[in-house]
Amino acid sequence: MDEKKVMLSGIQPSGDLTLGSYLGAIKNWAERAESFDCYYFMADMHSITVRQDPAALRRRTLEQLAQYIACGLDPEKNTLFIQSHVHQHAELGWVLNCYTMFGELSRMTQFKDKSAKNKDNINGGLFTYPALMAADILLYQPDYVPVGEDQKQHCELTRDVAQRFNGIYGDVFKVPEPYIPKVGARIMSLSDPLSKMSKSDKDPAGSIYLMEKPEDIQRKFKRAVTDSDTENCVRYDPVNKPGVANLMAIYAAVTGKSFDEIEAEFAGQGYGKFKPAVGEAVVETLRPIREEASRIMSDKAYLESVYRAGAERASYVAEKTLRKVYKKIGFVAR
Ligand code: TRP
Repeated sequence: MDEKKVMLSGIQPSGDLTLGSYLGAIKNWAERAESFDCYYFMADMHSITVRQDPAALRRRTLEQLAQYIACGLDPEKNTLFIQSHVHQHAELGWVLNCYTMFGELSRMTQFKDKSAKNKDNINGGLFTYPALMAADILLYQPDYVPVGEDQKQHCELTRDVAQRFNGIYGDVFKVPEPYIPKVGARIMSLSDPLSKMSKSDKDPAGSIYLMEKPEDIQRKFKRAVTDSDTENCVRYDPVNKPGVANLMAIYAAVTGKSFDEIEAEFAGQGYGKFKPAVGEAVVETLRPIREEASRIMSDKAYLESVYRAGAERASYVAEKTLRKVYKKIGFVAR
């Protein structure tokens, strides 16, 4: 039988999903289910490496699931689950902690960044997080791990840990490839076009959230940073006009138009016409997603049936790997 390749990815429910995550990633996930066996999970266990408000974490975890489904991820075709519902993550996470070196963890740039930002809470979990991430991945024996640039180092570490483990015990883990999708735009902040639009950005003016009201979206686009030059001309020049290039990338991603077409469309019109047009196109793209996500959020029974079924499927696969690992390392079988 020609089995589908396996793909897995996680997103932390530590902030509301943005237009950046939609256009850069989630939008392309829906059609993937045709060619891959896909697992996606809400990485709630990772989120608590930074202090969370419990009610907000719970709400965002469920909202994120609802938003994924609204973005086109079909729970019948993809395995969607909440990380903490599949206890094998914590268990393999512990094991892999013992196969991940202090020196390796010390080199992780995300640890350095996050500990600089959270000086009062540099906890052990923040440090060993990549071992848990390795467990998240290796439990499902995936071929590919679609991640953003910022997670590449963690994926490399996962490969090193898998190879180290396999070197000692034989072929237990498939060594996965990071998968940086070619399609999918890299969307930058509207207020600081040199940094990525991020759900954890402290400045909400820079990000568009999937659930945001149309008038708020429009206001943010009208205030989006363009350039300091006086040219006032819609032209694709990411080096000298990063703000305009970013708005063009957004407009291109939501309308399917090319940069040439966009330049022609706004020739001689300036940013005053261009910015609200981008806002409008984004509002119309997000409207059906927002409506569907709110509908799903209010249908608690449906949402629950999705995450339960997802956890059950995930757990079945994860348990097979965990059993193998426990046996190899010498734990007595239950
Ligand atoms: N570390 C990822 C992030 O911060 C989230 C994540 C956790 C993840 N486990 C994963 C991504 C496993 C891919 C695979 O974005």
